[in-house]
Amino acid sequence: MTSHTLHRNGYSLSTLEYGEGDPVVLLHGFPFDGVMWDAQIAALQETYRVIVPDLRGFGTSTLAADDVGAGVDMRSYADDVAAALDEMGVDQPLTLAGFSMGGYVAWQFALHYRDRLRALILCDTRAAADAPEAQHGREKMAEACLDNRSSAPALEMLPKLLAPETLEQRPEVVDAVREMIERASPQAIAAAQRGMARREDVRHLLGEIDVPALCLVGRYDVISPIAEMQDMAATLPQGELVEIPAAGHMTVIENADAVSDAILAFLQQ
Ligand code: MLT
Repeated sequence: MTSHTLHRNGYSLSTLEYGEGDPVVLLHGFPFDGVMWDAQIAALQETYRVIVPDLRGFGTSTLAADDVGAGVDMRSYADDVAAALDEMGVDQPLTLAGFSMGGYVAWQFALHYRDRLRALILCDTRAAADAPEAQHGREKMAEACLDNRSSAPALEMLPKLLAPETLEQRPEVVDAVREMIERASPQAIAAAQRGMARREDVRHLLGEIDVPALCLVGRYDVISPIAEMQDMAATLPQGELVEIPAAGHMTVIENADAVSDAILAFLQQ
């Protein structure tokens, strides 16, 4: 494993790199960090060069002074990823996997760095923008986390992230997800919520993203529901959908092996 830190305009980006081979970049969701991909890193690093950034403010990456007030938009996260890849000398076409918020970032990367992309993996994510009510909820959470100087208000997400069966029968998974939320910084949560609230609706742009695209969705995902991901896969010129059983939104953790197997099968196609 190699660790890279890129310093940019008042903030820093940490990226971990594993293995050798064609590059596969894994973008985490909100409010998590690269650790959420641990099981997939283990499965992929024998064959691929696996690159796992912590998005700005999360994990060991930091924020710029005005990121909390202004929010970090999805394009800025995508520009950060491109800059980190430049710094690491990654110049071959890459496969980019984005989980949920990482998927919002992946759309921006696909739209603005198309020539760097070999394939996309969209994991439990959406192409639509937020409705006004959801935007309002994000601002409320941002303010609550900042006021409390804690990520605890973000724990309200927990019941929606996991399948009912996971919540009832797999306390170790619930605890692992809770711990990931608890270690996120309130500032990173606020910056990301404000950026996600004003993210672009990219549904009308999906037809332009003409690369092989694997869409993965948990059978019980209520945040990026199956019907929405079916539309996404059908609209992407080379889209395919794989449903992950025994999982809600957190597929990469709730059914890590099924996600790794689906990614490996797609990469080997
Ligand atoms: C995520 O898992 O990244 C979030 O659920 C995305 C969101 O809040 O829209």
